[in-house]
Amino acid sequence: MEKSYNKLLKGNKLFAESKLFNDPDYFKNLSKGQTPDYLWIGCSDSRVPANEITNTQSGEIFVHRNIANLVIHTDTNLLSVLEYAIKYLEVKHIIVCGHYGCGGVKASMTNTYHGFVDNWLRNIKDVYHKNKSELENIEDEELRANRLTELNVIEQVRNLAKTTIVQEAWTKRPLHLHGWVYGLDSGLVKDLSVVHDNMEDIDKIYQFTFPTKN
Ligand code: CO
Repeated sequence: MEKSYNKLLKGNKLFAESKLFNDPDYFKNLSKGQTPDYLWIGCSDSRVPANEITNTQSGEIFVHRNIANLVIHTDTNLLSVLEYAIKYLEVKHIIVCGHYGCGGVKASMTNTYHGFVDNWLRNIKDVYHKNKSELENIEDEELRANRLTELNVIEQVRNLAKTTIVQEAWTKRPLHLHGWVYGLDSGLVKDLSVVHDNMEDIDKIYQFTFPTKN
């Protein structure tokens, strides 16, 4: 029986061939380096691939994905990606993209034990708790989950704005943070218009004063 993963290897050959057919230097040029303008922080969900849903090519988006697109200020993986993207790739925009129908968001709304992942999802429970009255006024469960998905994205954009990495960048150059939600059933992105451009957009207690060099 043919191994199912062979499909991926065959697919890869097709991919490489078709790229070369259109542009014989495609990979030669890509291998020279990357200068993406965007950092994408999205959900690991297999139905939300950054390049595919934005109709972009390899080299255009630097990507970090985790369950339910969370920005946790102690996540060394996320922070390393963030610093690299800002400091060395000099991305101009950071997009947190959630998606309606997110399994992580839905799971966080239950009391069911799933395993270690519940400690991760706890961060979404905190978003729920913070917005409890608004959410519990929404009777329809799906609509409530949709709203929590949006509130979660908004919170993660805020979390980005609270990092020393983003704030230090703001002292030197423009950097725009965006919150989006992708619709699995429509294929369309909703821009939540929660752009953060400087630290004035967050509460004073989170604003750092950076030492000035003499
Ligand atoms: Co998800």
